[in-house]
Amino acid sequence: MPPAALEAFSAVLDAAGIIDGTAPEAGRYLHDWTGDYLGTALAVLRPRSVEEVQALVRICAEHRVPIVPQGGNTGLVAGATAGGPPSVVVVSLERLNRIREIDAANFTLRADAGAVLQTLKDAAESEDMLFPLALGAQGSCQIGGNVATNAGGINVLRYGMMRDLVLGLEAVMPDGSLWEGMTGLRKDNRGYDLKQLLIGSEGSLSIVTGVEVKLFPRPANLETAYLGVSSFADAMALSGMARSVCSDLLTAFEVIGSECIAFAALSNPETRVPLEGEWPVHVLMELGCSSAIDGRALLEALLGEAFEAGLLGDGTIAQSRAHARAFWAIREDLVEGQAKRGRHVRTDLSVRLSDVARMIEAARSYVLSSWPGWEPIAYGHAGDGNIHFNVMPPLALSTGEIREQGRDLLDGLYGIVRGFGGSFSAEHGVGRSRRAVYWQWLTPEQQKAVSAIKAVFDPLGIMNPGCLVVSD
Ligand code: FAD
Ligand code: LAC
Ligand code: ZN
Repeated sequence: MPPAALEAFSAVLDAAGIIDGTAPEAGRYLHDWTGDYLGTALAVLRPRSVEEVQALVRICAEHRVPIVPQGGNTGLVAGATAGGPPSVVVVSLERLNRIREIDAANFTLRADAGAVLQTLKDAAESEDMLFPLALGAQGSCQIGGNVATNAGGINVLRYGMMRDLVLGLEAVMPDGSLWEGMTGLRKDNRGYDLKQLLIGSEGSLSIVTGVEVKLFPRPANLETAYLGVSSFADAMALSGMARSVCSDLLTAFEVIGSECIAFAALSNPETRVPLEGEWPVHVLMELGCSSAIDGRALLEALLGEAFEAGLLGDGTIAQSRAHARAFWAIREDLVEGQAKRGRHVRTDLSVRLSDVARMIEAARSYVLSSWPGWEPIAYGHAGDGNIHFNVMPPLALSTGEIREQGRDLLDGLYGIVRGFGGSFSAEHGVGRSRRAVYWQWLTPEQQKAVSAIKAVFDPLGIMNPGCLVVSD
């Protein structure tokens, strides 16, 4: 790093605001959650205010020092982890973490970008409102990271992705200027919606410093059911029925292939599936209702209809919040368990709802027939057509072999999902690990448009180079 840049950073930040990239304390900012990606940095910068972020970005622009914005570092596509010889500064938003304001009459909440998602959810709840974004990493991911990745999770079915939940943004642009758009407006048709361009841009266009999100009435009753069905096709038929019967009271419809339960148990040996008998596919569904609605009666009516139609094998309705939390723990633990198992092929596929079961079947047949010893597992947000179809390598393979063979296996899976007109990234984004396939699937015209947008916002190319946009 140019010594003048380091000196200038030191003049802006307090002593705890700069960590040398080679210091042991920098370690946690330099590898991703999976441990699959190791990064490097000249330094980690930890600003405490929007003005400090602006000052740092101005210095970076002046000295051409590339910036990797970082939130809670829970992203799954290496967007916040730059490898190679140290050349970047990581700008961590973790100290810019205040809840700024709740406007109860407007049903909105304003927060610094570094506020942890769970903190926002708790703040909304303390006013008897709901911020519905919900994902396994909510105790560590930041609202700015959620904006940058356009996060999804388990409640998209009813409330949409992050893109649908943002009413205002504040961001520091690559020249250090402040883009102020914390309008809190539900309707605003003044020309291009630039905030939507920044949402999902994964730190490649700006550093998000503030967010205004929509809040919702907090459902007084949550009804949660854990169900066993015979196939993904039956699960999808049940999903359609649940939507018709429950309309938009349905907040979550998750599927768990029974082979995933071993991974939940790997994370938590106390795991107990609340079903009688063995069912190939489990469904975790939830309704969120106001007190005027008898959610339990609605759920029972749905399950009765599903049973009569031969779609439902067995099921349990949670009798308390603790009971429901135990159901959801299975869903969370199976993700932790996979991480414990070690490096594997992860995906984040989406197809049309009508193709989910066939896509899973095609992917499973492909792996079982072409990749002996590799174990496919499927789970995810089936109500949104989003399946994490992951594949565990044979235990005997080395990390290098898993990486190399996994790449070829993944190409095959992407071929299958493309055949269905689907997406290789439903909710996790592109980052560095999906950049090649992203670029490959774009038409030349789309590539030109993406490059042009990047050039307009970030003419010096200092924002998260190597992430999302191919510029070399
Ligand atoms: P980081 O990982 O720090 O960064 C992610 C990207 O955003 C990087 O490109 C980074 O440069 C950029 N970025 C971060 N903060 C800013 C900022 N302030 N300004 C500009 N750019 C920024 N994701 C889902 O969508 N749905 C899920 O259900 C889900 N479940 C998960 C479960 C687990 C156990 C884990 C570990 C992850 C899960 N994720 C899920 C992925 C991850 O949590 C989300 O992508 C999350 O939105 C990332 O937020 P973060 O603050 O950790 O961002
Ligand atoms: C999940 C993450 C992996 O749904 O997206 O658990
Ligand atoms: Zn997911």
